[in-house]
Amino acid sequence: MTNAQSQPASATRPPQEAEILALNQRLLDSIVHADWKTYEELCDPTLSAFEPEARGRLVEGMDFHRFYFELGKSGPVPQATMCTPHVRFLGGDVAVVSYVRLVQKLDENGVPATSVSEETRVWHRLAAGWRHVHFHRSNNP
Ligand code: GLY
Repeated sequence: MTNAQSQPASATRPPQEAEILALNQRLLDSIVHADWKTYEELCDPTLSAFEPEARGRLVEGMDFHRFYFELGKSGPVPQATMCTPHVRFLGGDVAVVSYVRLVQKLDENGVPATSVSEETRVWHRLAAGWRHVHFHRSNNP
């Protein structure tokens, strides 16, 4: 893999970018661990999203996402990596993070497999702190 980072995405970044990348990694980790509590904490309740599971619809709110967390996980925990993340701040309170996400897991036959997605995630600093407010994920076959 030539574009995967060999160190955490937040390393060697300006502190503001490092903070957002660490939050984004925490969000991705909460997804692979099916950790609803952390995911819910990091997201604004009005989260909007385009993702393949929504079959071309914009989904709003948390219920759509909770369904997948409630399925739980079995077997080894997958590993999610942000590759070559790009961070753009719009003023001091909005950040747009774009990257390719690799998820390493075992397939149905127990063979290691990697899925690849393009993701853009938007974070908004609210009174309670940074909250995830929108994302768009496209699977890269
Ligand atoms: N499907 C939840 C997420 O990617 O944030």
